[in-house]
Amino acid sequence: MNPPATNPAAPNSAADNPAAENLGRPLGETAPPLATSYDEIPYPRLAFPYTHPSHLATIGRLLGLLPAPVDRCRVLELGCAGGANLVPMAYALPGSTWVGIDLSERQIAEGRAFYTGLGLTNVVLEQLDICEAAESLADRFGPFDYIIAHGIYSWVPDMVKQALLAACRRLLAPEGIAYVSYNCYPGCQLREMIRRMCQYHGRRKSNPRAFAATNRAFLEFLLQILPTSDDPYRAALREQAAGLIAERDAVILHDDLERDNDPQLLHQFLAQAARHGLQYLGDAHFGQMFGIGIDTAGLDLVRQGGEVTDFQQYLDFLYGRALRTTLLCREEVMVRHHLVPEAVRDLWISSSAVPISSEGAKLTHEQIDRIDFDDASPVVFRADECTTSVASRIGKAAMVELSLAHPKPLAFDVFVERVRNRLAGTAALKDISSKHAVPRDVPQRDESLAEQLAPIAMEWFAMRLVELRAFEPPMATEPTARPLASAVARYQVANGWGAADSAPLTPAPLTPAPHPSPGKAAESARQAENHRRPSLGLEPASAMAPLADRPKDATRHQVTSLLHRRVHLGGELAGQVLLRLDGKNDRAAIVESLAEPLFNGAAEIRIEGKPVTDPVAVRKLLSERVEACIADFARNALLVREVANDPKREALAS
Ligand SMILES: C[S@@+](CC[C@H](N)C(=O)[O-])C[C@H]1O[C@@H](n2cnc3c(N)ncnc32)[C@H](O)[C@@H]1O
Repeated sequence: MNPPATNPAAPNSAADNPAAENLGRPLGETAPPLATSYDEIPYPRLAFPYTHPSHLATIGRLLGLLPAPVDRCRVLELGCAGGANLVPMAYALPGSTWVGIDLSERQIAEGRAFYTGLGLTNVVLEQLDICEAAESLADRFGPFDYIIAHGIYSWVPDMVKQALLAACRRLLAPEGIAYVSYNCYPGCQLREMIRRMCQYHGRRKSNPRAFAATNRAFLEFLLQILPTSDDPYRAALREQAAGLIAERDAVILHDDLERDNDPQLLHQFLAQAARHGLQYLGDAHFGQMFGIGIDTAGLDLVRQGGEVTDFQQYLDFLYGRALRTTLLCREEVMVRHHLVPEAVRDLWISSSAVPISSEGAKLTHEQIDRIDFDDASPVVFRADECTTSVASRIGKAAMVELSLAHPKPLAFDVFVERVRNRLAGTAALKDISSKHAVPRDVPQRDESLAEQLAPIAMEWFAMRLVELRAFEPPMATEPTARPLASAVARYQVANGWGAADSAPLTPAPLTPAPHPSPGKAAESARQAENHRRPSLGLEPASAMAPLADRPKDATRHQVTSLLHRRVHLGGELAGQVLLRLDGKNDRAAIVESLAEPLFNGAAEIRIEGKPVTDPVAVRKLLSERVEACIADFARNALLVREVANDPKREALAS
């Protein structure tokens, strides 16, 4: 195996950093650890579903709190970067107020362009130091029901850490919930191994891009020279190196190699929080609060004799957790730390799980209709993050109903009604009635069924088989004649989000990207290799998928759905169709607008490498693709629901 042409393991030349004179001195004596400016290299624009107030409210309610309704609440995000997390939530929940602060002028400018481009008036981003947040925001915006601080705490100096917790205490409403994420041990011990190596290796690079580049080459070199083996050290090193290489420069620099990167043990963090009058409520990774996936006998042993927070600390040891997503509330709130399954009954439930055959194929509607719920044999349901086998009749009927309704979240009472209807005619309802001695009139049977379904739904939520929400997302699952796509997603496509680490500061309008004029197209075609014209791309629309299913570098046209998920569009055509879904265009108009540049020669469309030019064939092809794209947008919560006379629709259409 040959090392790379430029040996990354060789010491960096002093010419990279003329100030570096003392080769071989310990880190810190030649140059301070690199602190990368967010104005120079902004953080990637990402939405984090676990920070959504709906998720925080769901967990809060399951733990017995009464947090504010999500559609009428006040939310603060500390260190909001360019608003990629906050603004899409503000768009989907126009009745709530959203405030974000960040130190970086450039990111705040991007965020302001984002929400003003969408015409939102319920969100404000300010360039402000967290150290001034409590003082500055308390009088102007009043208490907040939800405070989000994602990816900040471990990456700022101690003084800012304290200010962050003080701001949470000062600004949190009495039943408010604060989400604070931070790097934690023991998982970070492994990450620190690579961090120290990279800091040493890049010690003479004062330019962040050069620092990232030299370390990227170094990590690749490590992977090249370290054989895959059973040796635990090498295996861990390889895994960490491969994980870091897969990230973008901005993540490598700001997350792993940032000057401040200060993991803590959970109990250390909670001690700091307690000093600021805050207490542990739970964790945004709900299932991990209970040790899902860990042997139950072992868990019982760990649980014995300890406080809730001791149990949580031991869980971190067992999981090897590297990131904590802690939920805090004010110390005077009575937190019982036991679950309230009935709270599920005020929520919306959905699941991406599909029933599958023993060969692993998704069951058809006909096969689903033939499921015999009285048959005790289990049915396997496969979701994005969990596959499980369900044997009980009620469980099978419940999962079938969620699968058929997907992606539409069902209000819990609607869900119960559907399960009851599916079970009607089977012995299940009789069992429910006799077991609970309930008179057999319909409402009480529903009540009994609801009582049985609530804890099941909560358990499935912990397993990530189902999702629970505290509001009804404004999504359309059945496209109308003139579909309306989320203005957030259209803005993101129009501005090339996901295509690069940072967006231009001047936002593009929410209109379809203009096709090159025939003259320009002809010119660029001449320059292009093989004289190929711009292609609209005919990738299957079903190539669209949640980002989690895609390789990390597949970032083109990444948009945020109305469920606050990152969705990756299948390609250029999907982006072009999405841009045209402004609630005014019907399918025929969209097809004509896409066909125009094909007819005038500005672009081309190919099938199996051959250009399609016949107008009838072009229109037919485009019609099929447009239909498939719209169906995929609906499945991925990118279409806005039409509500007659709803003033909010106007806001969502902007
Ligand atoms: C790692 S990024 C995380 C951004 C975003 N929360 C996310 O998770 O995508 C950290 C952010 O904190 C901001 N930040 C750092 N120190 C700050 C301070 N003292 N006051 C306000 N923002 C700060 C940075 O500008 C940056 O945008």
